[in-house]
Amino acid sequence: MNRKILAMCLISGLAVNPGFAQKYEELAKTPPMGWSSWNKFHEDIDETKIKTIADALVSSGLRDAGYIYVNIDDCWHAPTRDKDGFPQSDPKRFPSGIKALADYMHERGLKLGIYSDAGYKTCAGEFGSAGHEFQDALQYARWEVDYLKYDWCNTPNFNSENAYKMMSSALREAGRPILFSICEWGTTQPWKWAKDVGHMWRTTQDIEPVFSDTTQISNIWNLAVTEILDKNAVLREYAGPGHWNDPDMLEIGNGLTENQERAHFSLWAMMAAPLILGNDVRDMNPHTLSVLMNKDVIAVDQDPLGIQGFRILQDDGIEIWWKPLTDNNWALCIFNRNHDPKDVSLDWQDFNIYDKFSDRSTDFMNLTYDTFDLWNKNKKGNTRKPLKIKVGGEDVAMYLLKPRKQ
Ligand code: GLA
Repeated sequence: MNRKILAMCLISGLAVNPGFAQKYEELAKTPPMGWSSWNKFHEDIDETKIKTIADALVSSGLRDAGYIYVNIDDCWHAPTRDKDGFPQSDPKRFPSGIKALADYMHERGLKLGIYSDAGYKTCAGEFGSAGHEFQDALQYARWEVDYLKYDWCNTPNFNSENAYKMMSSALREAGRPILFSICEWGTTQPWKWAKDVGHMWRTTQDIEPVFSDTTQISNIWNLAVTEILDKNAVLREYAGPGHWNDPDMLEIGNGLTENQERAHFSLWAMMAAPLILGNDVRDMNPHTLSVLMNKDVIAVDQDPLGIQGFRILQDDGIEIWWKPLTDNNWALCIFNRNHDPKDVSLDWQDFNIYDKFSDRSTDFMNLTYDTFDLWNKNKKGNTRKPLKIKVGGEDVAMYLLKPRKQ
């Protein structure tokens, strides 16, 4: 801002924030992918665990499928900051320090994420960043960290927009491109103010490994997968390349059924959600791995157009979701919320959709698409005849549609 305008604003009392530096733009052109320690391990983390998780991401093929961030969540902290006020890691559980862990990740083609909180303490009671924002950002940059998740506990009377802008500026000033993940649970509608502040923002409270039966939720603050789905679904117009709605980390591999795992993964992909694994990737059953490694579903999530998909129909527990993709392709997901399987018959001509947000239409009247079943890879079809399928209980059928050349 030029000095004259700034002076005029100050004189007239207009709210300006000349210190707010723009976030690093290039960091999340597609939804971030990685792993985080929280969902599975909570406070029970140490450097050996984090390193062996990194090794497993590499050996399982998950890194090469795109999961590159390894994020240490809450509880990496020493009991206090150092004598100059800089953050330090717990010398017992992280004796080699965070820089050594970052080096470990970088040597393996991975990136390291860390966690802090805008308040005085983190949600688990460790020291927060309030009053230390610039010092903390500088330390993360010196440690060569690549990603910061920034939580919202213990922030009495704080203004969220200012608090997150402060840390965003601090990261910018620290000079290292660090992806900024805003985690204030949607309480002050970050989708309305965080586009230029962070790269993703949580839209809801915390997820639990419960699909939809809320009587199974152990903490009343937490939500089931389908509850989060419903809250996140309505926010599509706020997401796009570089700024994503974050419906929280995945619970695949943490006790869901096979059908539920497929549905959870497909629906997060349809919503262009960040795909942050929340399970112990050192110990996964083959089904879980095959879900997380479905490259066609990952490609729907990572499509460069960056448009969050939308639900167009809900009828008797059956939902129809569409997502516009590059090259005039579309993804279709048919989700059965019921416990029992359902027969679904879909006449393409009932779905001549125009999506105003993306300015894309399916145009089934004039175009024929080839259809590729993304969970049963050998099943191919086209849009000349209606689709007749059985969708399992709490499961999905998912398709890629490619228009035939005219
Ligand atoms: C909050 C966040 C979680 C996790 C915990 C850590 O609940 O929403 O994702 O980071 O804090 O204490």
